[in-house]
Amino acid sequence: MLNREDNQLLTRTGPETPMGKLMRRYWLPVLLSEELPEPDGEPLQVRLLGETFVAFRDTNGRVGVLDENCPHRGASLAYARNEECGLRCIYHGWKVDAAGRVVDMPTEPPTSTFRDRLRHPAYPVVEAGDVIWTYLGPSEIQPDFPNWEWTRAPKEQRGATRILQECNYAQGVEGTIDSAHSDYLHSSDIRGRPRDHAPRLEAVDTPYGFKYAAIRTPDSDADAFKYVRLTLFVAPFFAFIPPFRQGRLASDDDNPGEVVVQQAFVPIDDEHNAFFTFAYNRRGPLPRYWRQHASEFGVQGHAGRPVRNRANKHLQDRAAMRAGNWSGVVGINPQDFAVAEGMGPILDRSREHLGATDVAIIRYRRRMLDAARALDAAQEPPPGLGGDVAYARLASDERLIPLDAAWEDMSTFAEDVTLV
Ligand code: FES
Ligand SMILES: [Fe+2]
Repeated sequence: MLNREDNQLLTRTGPETPMGKLMRRYWLPVLLSEELPEPDGEPLQVRLLGETFVAFRDTNGRVGVLDENCPHRGASLAYARNEECGLRCIYHGWKVDAAGRVVDMPTEPPTSTFRDRLRHPAYPVVEAGDVIWTYLGPSEIQPDFPNWEWTRAPKEQRGATRILQECNYAQGVEGTIDSAHSDYLHSSDIRGRPRDHAPRLEAVDTPYGFKYAAIRTPDSDADAFKYVRLTLFVAPFFAFIPPFRQGRLASDDDNPGEVVVQQAFVPIDDEHNAFFTFAYNRRGPLPRYWRQHASEFGVQGHAGRPVRNRANKHLQDRAAMRAGNWSGVVGINPQDFAVAEGMGPILDRSREHLGATDVAIIRYRRRMLDAARALDAAQEPPPGLGGDVAYARLASDERLIPLDAAWEDMSTFAEDVTLV
């Protein structure tokens, strides 16, 4: 459990909060590239960490992320005309470019130098892996972009989705670093796991966050091997979950290869987050399940609000449950959403009772609470920002290892894959 003060610290991410300030030190995924499909297309309002921005693709294809309200008198730039390398406000025609320069003020006298003195808040943007990332923190300490392995994979081998989750981001994170629930919540959809349903969890801190192993006794060769599922938590809200291998998903009907999966739970505000999934097959084209991953949520394209949501109890099917389905909710990720969103917008963690399989949950909270408090006390750098993390080499793993081998030594980076 967490006391109320710590629960507040963990879950509040607005601009004046310690956790919000910590998160603003990292590169954050915001949108999929496909959501800004063409130059001079429709600008989008973007909510991120309790603030509101506008994102647009300009005439040259460059993506800008700006404060939403026009520098003149605050009209939303999501309504602006997107033309000739900038957003032109529909209210009085002022125009701002992707760098935040106010390039035209048609209502001011031609001799005015006002626009040279004005700068509209604009944020650095990187487009990588067909995902748009931004950095909201102080420019003088902007970190290098983390070159995740999947962002450098050939296009046909990777995919990304962005799905609205209607609860606090930490409820999402705590679902993904919880290896024990797969044996129950997802038991009708995942196969090939050992019969040992009470994994032993061990966690160790790392510069980027922590990693943990869920260790199970395999169904055979138990005297020589242990079955290890390795998960990485990467500050401030990323996780690498164990890869999906051939035949593991009941719904996979084409070659799954070795799919590395990274997830992110990006706060929109304290009661909503954007759930990103980045999937990458190291061994060939991305399998169909992952290409069509968003369809599990019933959304068009790869981003949107799920058809199954809290308002309709995720369309849980009691008849299916009576017929043998465990959760009655269709789809692995919608099952995760049912439990995370079902907790309510912001869970009161002072009333929970943690058990033996909650080792990673405890580690996550401690790591992030410590990091937020340290930054608040001006102790630098936050986890992963000390220049000592090879982000391109982070991945998770699952395998049988000899009983006497140390899981901490498992190497997850495939030396033989080709990156572009
Ligand atoms: S409010 Fe945008 S130009 Fe006046
Ligand atoms: Fe899950």
